[in-house]
Amino acid sequence: MTTRPRKPAPGTPAPGKLALPELAEMKRRGDRIVMITAYDAPSGRIADDAGVDLILVGDSAAMVVLGHDSTVPATVDEMIILTRAVNRGARRPLVIADLPFGSYQVSDEQAIETGVRFVKEAAADAVKLEGAGPTVARVRALTTAGIPVMGHVGLTPQTATMLGGFKAQGRSAAKAVRLYEDALALEAAGCFSIVLEAVPAPVAARITEALAIPTIGIGAGGGCDGQVLVWHDLLGLYEGGAPRFVKQYAELAPTIRDAVARYAGEVRDGSFPEAKHTYAMSEDELALFEAAIAGAREGV
Ligand code: KIV
Repeated sequence: MTTRPRKPAPGTPAPGKLALPELAEMKRRGDRIVMITAYDAPSGRIADDAGVDLILVGDSAAMVVLGHDSTVPATVDEMIILTRAVNRGARRPLVIADLPFGSYQVSDEQAIETGVRFVKEAAADAVKLEGAGPTVARVRALTTAGIPVMGHVGLTPQTATMLGGFKAQGRSAAKAVRLYEDALALEAAGCFSIVLEAVPAPVAARITEALAIPTIGIGAGGGCDGQVLVWHDLLGLYEGGAPRFVKQYAELAPTIRDAVARYAGEVRDGSFPEAKHTYAMSEDELALFEAAIAGAREGV
């Protein structure tokens, strides 16, 4: 009898996959956690090769991939396609899918239905939800249903209009206390980690100290347990203007534009393709081919 490697059963972590409890261990050890967003298989593979711990298939995809002006238009179907693609590329990192706006706000049942779709159809390891308040009950419902949840407080882009725009949050003592309490409530509801976005660094640091679960910061300073950046911001691929908390590690858009322009130029002046980019045929076969089409032409 031959033995074949078996696919892990649904819900079972793939071999080599970072285990969820390891994140809390990393926090205890003081190891910084690295998260990045990704939206397709090649970027999932590159992030994995680069040693990233967590990949977020963010609804930022609506802006940086799908060309919308905000994250709000992202749909569940679109996010499932992207999450599935990232999962085909990434092996070790945990792949976390953002639940898009409108896919969990209605009720606990809706949140569970959406979460289950991401786990079953996209093999997501976890989902991320924005906000506190009514979101806390959604987190409890999802984790009770066996779906790991990452929280997200501070600047929550899905409800940026309610927050007065894309602005830092928790800058007054009263608002910082509210954020602190929100983070504690999300932890108590079962989140395994919380994103803190655009929050003053000292506030993020105090929240991080108060939680047993890791915080992942974006515009929240170095006192968080980990950091996340959007793929296109980090690589200089999104030219729609980046917030001040973005550090650009490469400037790929001009490099790509230049490469595509050179390709266009070479197609137009005939210097691409060269002989090495084409397939040869033996002289004999070519002669037979020429004779065959000449005969065919005569027969018409
Ligand atoms: O959608 C996203 O990319 C995010 C990150 C900025 C945390 O939510």
